Amino acid sequence: MGWFEERSGLAGTVALVTGGAGGLGEAIASDLAANGVALAVVDLDAEAVDRLRASLAERGADALVRVGDARDPAVLESVVADVDQRWGRLDTLVNVVGGTFRAPFTETNPKGWDALLRTNLLHVLHACSLAVPRMQAGGRGGSIVNVSTIEAHRAAPGFAVYSAAKAAVEQFARSLAVELAPDGIRVNNVAPDIVPTPNMLRISGEEGSVIDPEGARIAIPMGRAGVPTDVSGCVVFLASALSAYLTGTTLHPDGGTYASSGWFNWPDVGWRNQVPASLLGRIADEGGSQP
Ligand SMILES: NC(=O)c1ccc[n+]([C@@H]2O[C@H](COP(=O)([O-])OP(=O)(O)OC[C@H]3O[C@@H](n4cnc5c(N)ncnc54)[C@H](O)[C@@H]3O)[C@@H](O)[C@H]2O)c1
Repeated sequence: MGWFEERSGLAGTVALVTGGAGGLGEAIASDLAANGVALAVVDLDAEAVDRLRASLAERGADALVRVGDARDPAVLESVVADVDQRWGRLDTLVNVVGGTFRAPFTETNPKGWDALLRTNLLHVLHACSLAVPRMQAGGRGGSIVNVSTIEAHRAAPGFAVYSAAKAAVEQFARSLAVELAPDGIRVNNVAPDIVPTPNMLRISGEEGSVIDPEGARIAIPMGRAGVPTDVSGCVVFLASALSAYLTGTTLHPDGGTYASSGWFNWPDVGWRNQVPASLLGRIADEGGSQP
């Protein structure tokens, strides 16, 4: 066993991943399985479920992969009952499920707000309420990881309720982390920026320009959009004993976008926190914007 395997303590533990068959969830489930974690996955997408089930079986992973809607409390209860029966322990919960649509707030209505809160916040509460007593009963601590977003940390015009729901998840995680710290159960978030999954591409529309290499070089300090393993690596770390003393916090696998908060690496002129006047065609030099 190498240093990472030994220190991570992941082999032989059990994780539940909601939304774990596609997009970021698939990378998270795969990477946990690669580290010897037994997996329960629930996902809405039947084809993605089939694909993940087959790929985990091929690798000899110990896994239970089911079709189901994580927004339905009865589905979560039944998945957790399966975990009880099969493994009798639960060490890690990863709440991946989330989603949104673009609309100015004034064009949304209570039905839409309800859908966004159900998709992004309420299932997290429910999954935690099921996982925590099992982690406590195990007496080995545990790790809860919520997949949040950079939009929980900045304004998100066109996505106001999504942004508020994810910020609520993060604040919930902080309080829960403190409540559960005496039990050794850690609660953390990962807040990615753009990672071109099929669903993200559908939602982002023209914002997808940051996936264009030049757009990414301007908008993302590290000069590229994220890839799913940028996020799954953080989740593996948070699930593992390598982060044993880390709770109530958020990791930002975003290539530096949150840190840059409005600073862009413009062609020719470099870092500016406004569009350079030269690019607006107003003046020829680059001196238009200073902090
Ligand atoms: N991709 C990005 O750029 C990005 C950026 C920031 C945050 N996020 C967050 O990451 C998470 C995953 O995003 P993604 O881009 O992988 O999206 P995705 O839609 O591909 O979701 C991942 C998986 O969740 C499943 N899923 C969706 N709703 C479900 C439900 N109600 N019950 C069970 N399974 C369900 C999907 O079928 C999919 O397999 C979301 O919470 C999203 O808000 C994504």
